[in-house]
Amino acid sequence: MKKFGILTGGGDCPGLNPVIRAVTRKASNEGVKVIGIENGWEGMIKNLTIPLDIQSVSGILPKGGTILGTSRTNPYKNPKDVKKIKENFKKLKLNALIAVGGEDTLGVANKLFKEGLNVVGIPKTIDNDLSETDYTFGFDTAINIATECIDRLHTTAESHHRVMVVEVMGRHAGWIATESGMAGGADVILIPEIPININNVCNILKKRCSRGKDFSIVVAAEGAKFKKGNLIVRRTKKDAFGHELLGGIGHRLAEIIGKRTGFETRVTVLGHILRGGSPSAFDRVLGTRFGVAAVELALRGDFGFMTALKGNKIVKVPIEKAVKHLKTIDLELYDIAKEFFG
Ligand code: F6P
Repeated sequence: MKKFGILTGGGDCPGLNPVIRAVTRKASNEGVKVIGIENGWEGMIKNLTIPLDIQSVSGILPKGGTILGTSRTNPYKNPKDVKKIKENFKKLKLNALIAVGGEDTLGVANKLFKEGLNVVGIPKTIDNDLSETDYTFGFDTAINIATECIDRLHTTAESHHRVMVVEVMGRHAGWIATESGMAGGADVILIPEIPININNVCNILKKRCSRGKDFSIVVAAEGAKFKKGNLIVRRTKKDAFGHELLGGIGHRLAEIIGKRTGFETRVTVLGHILRGGSPSAFDRVLGTRFGVAAVELALRGDFGFMTALKGNKIVKVPIEKAVKHLKTIDLELYDIAKEFFG
């Protein structure tokens, strides 16, 4: 009997449990045994596993997070960890390992594949910044939650005649800010890909006020930065993959906007709210399609590939291509968003 492992690594997001369920059910239907590896790459290093079967994945479709746990462990920080992963792969008698993650987790998957391990990838992240796929699951839920929050902030902004600055996650890509800002009718959207011109921002808000709109919503991606400024971070200590913990641009913007315009200004940082809770229908369906496709890739021996969504088709792409560059915002989309500023 064949045996597949599955792990979830990096930041969690809604849709991981639908993937775990789909992989387990599809594999069972094909007569393949599945084990879950706990806490991402840490579980492969320490041999932390749990058996998965149709019973154990029953009822997890609508649940947020991941029943397998996750971590930001990077085995390539220590050659001994990579050796342990290879040993455990053999010890566990795995025919394939399905790695569900973003650029970091899949970057490790790609290196392990190059070193001879049978690995298949599935793309996840709320940031939607992974190349070679139109969407990652988690993103749709995140923008729906952010949109609902922006709607709520609109009503209180209007009552108090205030400017509300909303900081959203997304790391170095402006997907979440742009799409939730568009859906929520934001008056200004600031993204990492385009340096902030604070004079422009203040002028837009003042012009809006002069035509009778004495409240505004400014959506800022956590990775947005001023023309001459650096990234604003909450913690300078980098994680195992070299990322700083972003955050703080919302407060900086509110301070400047308040001073320059005289408008009363407040800040809301949505942060991890966007990563929690039940996945949207879109993310449940995408996660399910990715899970089934990943099992098919593993059964065919298509290792080193990742499932991806192109148009409305699930396709396979080399993991290597997907992790090469970050997928930053489509500037045509941002131009459309700009038409509605002010
Ligand atoms: O990559 C997903 C993400 O939520 C980013 O948007 C954010 O910058 C980061 O993870 C936060 O990381 P952590 O979970 O370590 O706080």
